[in-house]
Amino acid sequence: MQEPRVTVGFLAPSQCQILIEACEAASFSVDPNPEYLQATTDLEVDRSPSVRDLILGMGLVEKLTEAVAAYTSGLEKVTAFNDFFVVKYDAAHQRELIKHTDAGNISFMLALSPRESYKGGGTAFENTNGPLHLDQGSCVVFDAKVFHQGLPIHSGKRYLLVAFCYTDAAATRIAGNLSLTIRPLQGNRNSFDLFKTRKFSVSTLEDAAKVLAKLGRSCFIPYVATSIPSSALENFIVGIWNLHAGRLGLGIPRGAGAEVWSQRLDVGAGDYVPWHSDKDEAAFAVDPDNPKHPIISSVTYLNDSDEMATVVFGENNTLVCFGRKGQHLAFDGRMLHGVVPVGKGGREDGADGEASGQRNKRRRKRRRRRLTLLVNLWLEPPLRQDFVAPPTGEGGESGGENIDFEKAPWDEIPVSHPLMTQDNDNPDEIIAQVTSRSDICTCLLVEAET
Ligand SMILES: [Fe+2]
Ligand SMILES: [Fe+2]
Repeated sequence: MQEPRVTVGFLAPSQCQILIEACEAASFSVDPNPEYLQATTDLEVDRSPSVRDLILGMGLVEKLTEAVAAYTSGLEKVTAFNDFFVVKYDAAHQRELIKHTDAGNISFMLALSPRESYKGGGTAFENTNGPLHLDQGSCVVFDAKVFHQGLPIHSGKRYLLVAFCYTDAAATRIAGNLSLTIRPLQGNRNSFDLFKTRKFSVSTLEDAAKVLAKLGRSCFIPYVATSIPSSALENFIVGIWNLHAGRLGLGIPRGAGAEVWSQRLDVGAGDYVPWHSDKDEAAFAVDPDNPKHPIISSVTYLNDSDEMATVVFGENNTLVCFGRKGQHLAFDGRMLHGVVPVGKGGREDGADGEASGQRNKRRRKRRRRRLTLLVNLWLEPPLRQDFVAPPTGEGGESGGENIDFEKAPWDEIPVSHPLMTQDNDNPDEIIAQVTSRSDICTCLLVEAET
């Protein structure tokens, strides 16, 4: 196990003092969390806007990220926090902390108090000789799995700022973890959201989508390349990054990028997309036990999709979505999904008294291929390399600024009742279930019965 790494003078003593005063003004609480071996006197930074603003204003998270990167020789980067708090040792209350390991992968601890403000104290690590005594403003970074202990203080008070850091991308989608701006992450397991594009016509993406549909392959557009978008497609992708990184509080690492492809499906030709979850097929071939999924899978509808439904299986409910032109459906990249035809009129057959001959004529005229643009967001680039070059085109000037997504309320979304099939691997099974429903055009999303 790697030894702890100390940085002397990480923060100026005056800034440490400001932080202590802000924490005392915001008040500490004793955390009786039963998961903890011992109650601690803490101030959770995410619950104290004044302390959080101070910390962010001092650039402390960026400095912390650099310290962690230095500890791992640049191999790992902080993606999220399990916890970010200030702990207070007080001779009259909590004097010490028993031997323990931390949550997260890597721990960061910053001494806010000057040595002369308490007697005793220090931190003992199982893999070092003798306790570590940090001067005010100095920090230590260490392996969270190394046992350590806060030694008892005999008088005075000792304040430490502590961050339990994660360095893997998956941590950013666990609800309750903290983002790099020290805000709770929503996580995105079992969530699907539909957005409407405003101030932007998806028709401008049609040419690029048709090129990609014809190629039948995907392209990979690194996030850094979209800083100056050179086409309407790249412009749109910037908009998608902004939307999802913003709402999920994602930090975007250097290798992040968007995988983009297009599908043209013809219900008349029997096209469908069998159930699958999006994953890095190359990584899967090497290590099938550890599939790598995009952080977000998305479908943008370039025309109305009346005769084919996108089905996304959640843990508690299932979405059956007939997309409308301009809508953007996004869901957790780990979720099972597919596209199924809804034949025999499906949701178009209303009790409107229209003669069936007329209706069929109208249907034939309206029938067209379902055209969608698929954009998956990857925080780490996939292993697979078989990408095609992105289509070029006009319309990249605005840097995503002219794209505005509005969350569509569920009652505006044509979704069916949840369909939980007996056999999720069998498309025929779900097709049968979808087509047997007469209420497919109702706008409901209800919890599945368990
Ligand atoms: Fe600890
Ligand atoms: Fe997919």
